[in-house]
Amino acid sequence: MSTGQSAATGAPLLEASGIVKSYGHVEALRGADFTVHAGEVVALIGDNGAGKSTLTKILSGVQRPDGGTIRLDGVPVAFDRVEQAREAGIETVHQDLALCAQLTPAANFFLGREVLRGGLLGRLGFLDHKAMRDRARAECERLGIRLKSDTVPVSTLSGGQRQGVAVARAVTWARRVVFMDEPTAALGVVQTGRVLDLIRRVRDTGVAVVLISHNMQDVKAVSDRIEVLRLGARVARFDTARVSMEELVAAMTGATSEAMTDAMATAAEEATGEPPRAAGPTRTDTPTRADGPPRADGPTRADGSTRVDGAGRDERGAAAREEER
Ligand SMILES: Nc1ncnc2c1ncn2[C@@H]1O[C@H](COP(=O)(O)OP(=O)(O)OP(=O)(O)O)[C@@H](O)[C@H]1O
Ligand SMILES: [Mg+2]
Repeated sequence: MSTGQSAATGAPLLEASGIVKSYGHVEALRGADFTVHAGEVVALIGDNGAGKSTLTKILSGVQRPDGGTIRLDGVPVAFDRVEQAREAGIETVHQDLALCAQLTPAANFFLGREVLRGGLLGRLGFLDHKAMRDRARAECERLGIRLKSDTVPVSTLSGGQRQGVAVARAVTWARRVVFMDEPTAALGVVQTGRVLDLIRRVRDTGVAVVLISHNMQDVKAVSDRIEVLRLGARVARFDTARVSMEELVAAMTGATSEAMTDAMATAAEEATGEPPRAAGPTRTDTPTRADGPPRADGPTRADGSTRVDGAGRDERGAAAREEER
């Protein structure tokens, strides 16, 4: 059984570098990086509009990036269609669930993967509806989602039931990576707990799980690592066991970096007796940690142009010292 901690030391399973995506004038992703290893749960967090869903759509073949590189097992890949990502073993629970409202749960479950009946009927293209219904029902029940009827369309299900169908479908088919964009947003306490258990079980089979959530308790409870998106770029990476809630919030909001910028400016002023020069474009976007152990790997500047290793604070201190000379 692999664990996130040990697996994360190997080569990345899926790696995105410098992903750029604009919608008209809106720059949703501005050189975003992302990394996930086999057998780990990575939480992808950030404020509303940070670009989490956009990155998820790009990494699961729903949308094409304007720029950047995606590597799967170190090999550059370009997903033009969802099917290509699926063939590569990547499944996704989208924030809007992406279910076909007029189809039954089982039909959604097996869309594009229909089970044929045995023998001649199967060779003639007849589907095994019962097998598909039974499987879909069983997978949903594992999550505590009870469907009153197998024959009604998904549009008649409750929000929580729909979410359960989407989660169950994704984990059933995922072989390499499963993205879950707010998978518990509509779920009750019991079902949420089951989804978190399921995430751990999926992780323990060696599949990478990417959890996108605004619920920091869930993130802390289930993830091995956390990557933070802010304003369309990755600004911090943390080992979950070694990061505080305050540090996460600070990285998401940029609060710490602003505080650090102020502190550095004051320190520079004290050292030189001169007012500090104007801050560069990335200053407020660069995450820092006020204290705690250094990260396993460093934060990335918001413009994606330079990666700093180790604690970002030290790098920036060096930059500030350079400016003073
Ligand atoms: N199809 C689209 N057309 C125009 N703008 C879009 C589109 N999709 C996303 N955006 C914009 O891109 C930015 C990033 O959106 P995205 O949905 O990726 O954020 P998010 O981090 O998932 O936010 P949330 O936590 O609210 O789900 C936002 O400013 C959003 O308005
Ligand atoms: Mg989103």
